[in-house]
Amino acid sequence: MNMKDYRTAKYNIEPIFINRWSPRAFREDEIPEKTLLGVLEAASWAPSAANIQPWRFVIARTEKDRNRFYSFINDGNLTWCKKAPALILVMSKTTTERGPSISHAFDAGSAWGFLSLEAAHKGLITHAMGGFDRNKAKEVLGIPEEYQLHAVVAIGYQGDKKGLSEVHQEREKPSGRRSLDETVFEGKFES
Ligand SMILES: Cc1cc2nc3c(=O)[nH]c(=O)nc-3n(C[C@H](O)[C@H](O)[C@H](O)COP(=O)(O)O)c2cc1C
Repeated sequence: MNMKDYRTAKYNIEPIFINRWSPRAFREDEIPEKTLLGVLEAASWAPSAANIQPWRFVIARTEKDRNRFYSFINDGNLTWCKKAPALILVMSKTTTERGPSISHAFDAGSAWGFLSLEAAHKGLITHAMGGFDRNKAKEVLGIPEEYQLHAVVAIGYQGDKKGLSEVHQEREKPSGRRSLDETVFEGKFES
């Protein structure tokens, strides 16, 4: 696959930003421990308000742990994510010593961004899923009330799309983006 057929950057940016995308076809190969921990370490270098680092990650890379995750992931996502060798639940602590945190979700989003880029840099693919039962995940994983669950990220090596359903085979290509002038506003916001 030639990325240029799907994505081009108008300005001079690091290629990793357009080379990262979210395939659904995984190979079952395990991720070496140092590689996986390196990806999580990159996430932990994300900036956060007052350096509180509200993000937390629960990883599932054994059959037993992955099965526990499958119990709360939506059926539509289960059709493809079961081949991924590891799943990472991304969540954040919604409280600080001084009361509610107003930036925990923003900070955790940053950490997920770093995670996905470091994974791409290491030749891995990631695919975030918001489609899972958050209450069940909290119950099954023993997560206290004050944590907000954001996404389960499937991570591994890219596989052959022939292993996907027909619908997902058709979608198995990098998506585009709207143009920058629809996203960036000069001086004042216009809706
Ligand atoms: C928070 C979040 C939740 C998502 N939930 C799902 C999901 O439940 N199922 C799925 O197939 N893709 C899901 N995605 C993947 C997005 O659809 C994908 O990132 C988006 O279309 C942009 O494509 P790209 O990542 O290939 O650039 C999710 C992504 C994010 C960041």
